[in-house]
Amino acid sequence: MKRHKHRQETEAVRGGVDFRKKNGPLSTPIYQTSTFEVTDSEQQLRATHTDMFYTRYGNPTHTVAENAIAELEGADGALLFASGMTAITTTVLALLKSGDHIVAQRDIYGGATKFFSQWLPKYGVDVTFVDTTEYDQHARAIRPNTKLLYVESPTNPLVRVVDIKKIVALAKQHDLLTMIDGTFATPINQRPYESGIDLVMHSGTKYYAGHSDLIAGVIASRRDLIDTIRETRTTLGGNMDPHAAWLLLRGMKTLAVRVQRQNENALRIAQFLSSHAKVRRVHYPFLERHPQRALAMEQMRGGGGVLSFEVDGSGEDARRLAEALNLFTLAPSLGGVDSLVTIPVLTSHAMISAEQRAKMGVTDQLIRLSVGIENADDLIADLERALAVVTPVRQHAEVG
Ligand SMILES: Cc1ncc(COP(=O)(O)O)c(C=O)c1O
Repeated sequence: MKRHKHRQETEAVRGGVDFRKKNGPLSTPIYQTSTFEVTDSEQQLRATHTDMFYTRYGNPTHTVAENAIAELEGADGALLFASGMTAITTTVLALLKSGDHIVAQRDIYGGATKFFSQWLPKYGVDVTFVDTTEYDQHARAIRPNTKLLYVESPTNPLVRVVDIKKIVALAKQHDLLTMIDGTFATPINQRPYESGIDLVMHSGTKYYAGHSDLIAGVIASRRDLIDTIRETRTTLGGNMDPHAAWLLLRGMKTLAVRVQRQNENALRIAQFLSSHAKVRRVHYPFLERHPQRALAMEQMRGGGGVLSFEVDGSGEDARRLAEALNLFTLAPSLGGVDSLVTIPVLTSHAMISAEQRAKMGVTDQLIRLSVGIENADDLIADLERALAVVTPVRQHAEVG
C-alpha cells in the first residue's frame, strides 16, 4: 500500500515522532545534560558519532526537533543553533573558503549584512550586494569564484518577495549553492527546499518558537551539506541548550495554526490600513493591488504575519502612533503570538545611513507590525484609536 504522506499541519505536531507502539512519555524528554555516561571505552568510541556523547555535538532532544524541522521543510536533514545568526555564520564558514565570493541581495537582515561586509572580507571571502529583485544584477555580479547566492524572502521590513525559481535557475546555470533566509515565511507559507534552494535558514527565535521566549537558529538542507555544517557547528560551538530545544519543539506543535491565524489577521489589518485616510502606503504581498501579489501567491500559501505601512505624516507622527498602541507592544523581533510594533529607522535599520535607507524605501514614517494571534477586530480597533494621533494629509493609500 502506498505510504500516506502527512500534511504540514500534522507534521508540525507529530514530526520527528517514532510511531512504534511503546510505553513512554508523549512529550519528548529534555536531556538536560552536557555529557553522557558510557559503559566502557569501546562504547565511548562508538558514542562520538551519536547524539549521546556530548551536547555540543548533539543531544536526543535536539535530534527530535531536527527531524521534525527536516520533515516540515521537506529536506533531508536539519540542524539547530543557538541563534539565527549562528546558523548563518556557521553555515557560511562551513561551506566557503578564502578566495570564494558571495552574491547577496541588499535587503537582508542587518546582522547578516554586517557579517558579510565586515567579517567575511577578513577571511578572504568577498561579497557583492545587489538590488533585491533586479535579477540581471544578480546575474552580472557572478564571477568565476562565486560560490553562493544568498537571498531573503519576504524581506524586512518592506515584505518584498524574491522570485525563488529565478534564483534557483541562475544558480543551476552557474553551478552555485543557494541559501535563503525564510524566517518571515515559515515552512507553513513557503517551502524553498522543494523549489531547489540548497540551504533554508530561519531565525527560530521568531515563528518556529512562536512565543518570544527563546533564541534559536535553524538550517535545513541535503545530507552532505548537513554533515559538513554539523562538524563546523561542533567546532565553533553554536549548538542550542537542551531546554531551549525542547521549548522550540513545543512551540513547533502549534506552528501551523499560529501561522494560519497570523496570515488571516495580517491580511485583515493590511486591508484596513490600505483604506485609511491617514496611511500613505501599505506593504503586504497578499494585498489585492500589491505589485508582487501574483508571485507571492504562486510561491507562498499565505502572506505571513509581518506587514509595514507609512503614516501620512511625519516621523514624529509614526513614533507617537507606535507609542499610542496598546495591543501592539513596542519591541523589536517578530513572529510570536503577541503582536509587536517597531519603527525600523530606530531599530533594524538604525545603523544604515539615511541616504541608503531612502534608496531601500525605509522612511522615517514607516511602521512595522508583527501581527500575533489576538482577535483581528481588537487589533484593528487598537490601530484605529492610535491613528487618531496622526495629522491627516491625503485620501488613499498606495500598495507596494
Ligand atoms: C530575517 C531575520 N534573519 C535572521 C535574524 C537573526 O536571528 P537571531 O536573532 O535569532 O540570531 C533575524 C533577527 O531578527 C531576522 O529577523
